[in-house]
Amino acid sequence: MSFKSRAFILSTGMAVPKRVLTNYDLERMVETSDEWIVERTGIKERRILEDDEVISTYAVEAGKACLGAAGVSPDEVDLIICATLTPDFLMPSLAILVQKGLGAKRAGAFDLSATCSGFLYALSIAACVVCERPSAKVLVVGAEALSRKTNWQDRSTCVLFGDGAGAVLVGSAEEGMDSGIIDFILGADGTNWELLTLKGGGSAFLPFDERLPKEEYYIKMQGREVFKIAVRMMEKVALELLERNNLTPQDIDLLIPHQANLRIIEYLRERLGLPKEKVMVNIHRYGNTSAASIPIALHEARLEGRLKRGDNVLMVSFGGGFTFAGVLLRW
Ligand code: ACO
Repeated sequence: MSFKSRAFILSTGMAVPKRVLTNYDLERMVETSDEWIVERTGIKERRILEDDEVISTYAVEAGKACLGAAGVSPDEVDLIICATLTPDFLMPSLAILVQKGLGAKRAGAFDLSATCSGFLYALSIAACVVCERPSAKVLVVGAEALSRKTNWQDRSTCVLFGDGAGAVLVGSAEEGMDSGIIDFILGADGTNWELLTLKGGGSAFLPFDERLPKEEYYIKMQGREVFKIAVRMMEKVALELLERNNLTPQDIDLLIPHQANLRIIEYLRERLGLPKEKVMVNIHRYGNTSAASIPIALHEARLEGRLKRGDNVLMVSFGGGFTFAGVLLRW
């Protein structure tokens, strides 16, 4: 197997709000139960911004932690890509706020919108930048404040989402290191876009447009249909990525799937025939944090000692749109 790129993840970081919202708290807000939420989603609690907080604070913290772990100063960063669908503002971008917050004076900065696949899209672009310019250091941040776009009266969605930020620094692997990003798949299929939407705040409607019902200012989803598409896409992208790199599921040392629903993760694990210890799961603590879910899971996997030099790591995601993505790397 030959690497298409020498780009590598040099370090990771994360930051989540302190405020914990448990299933028991939700029982007091909508007609639901801890039992239902755990059984149907695997989620026990999630982190939520306080009313006076903003997600850029956590995106900056995650970036700082990541640079600190790599021993890289903000001045050395060439590019910052923030994957998010919930930036503080539409303008300036979240990436600009991170650039300012870190004091990364030399860095370019832009946001990338690909819903829950945003982080893997951004990581793939970062890998291409490093491949083209080996001295480049690219900070990739996945950060979401989904609580701000959650309809807290809709029990079918409000139990799912959480807030947080994760970051990775992408640069060249050291000379002679058998590590790096091997391959990626970025995909999309807009056929069923109406199954998962967040219409309010876009430009299709005038500000405070009376034609747009209030609930359209929050995430709306036909969960059962999204579930079916998710499991199909996750399996397809995982198998395609493995096959075209002459690998089988048995060659995977760690699978890091987007944390949307434990049943989706379990379905994928079973289809790939992987034992539980080869799959990173932290959805019980954070819920679905969209573009932040994989970098947070990757960071925690590293802290838990679940990544060893030479391990084959497969990350797969799907999200609204629909988008799907996979990144295969050797740690
Ligand atoms: N508590 C109790 N009951 C509930 C709740 C709740 N929180 N939510 C729904 N129910 C009820 C429904 O009303 C329904 O009742 P009924 O049978 O009397 O009509 C019953 O539970 C079953 O509802 P389903 O929607 O069929 O439940 P399902 O098992 O499909 O679980 C869920 C719902 C968790 C939303 C699931 O469909 C799912 O995870 N879908 C995928 C979601 C996802 O991963 N989205 C990712 C994208 S998010 C993004 O991009 C930001």
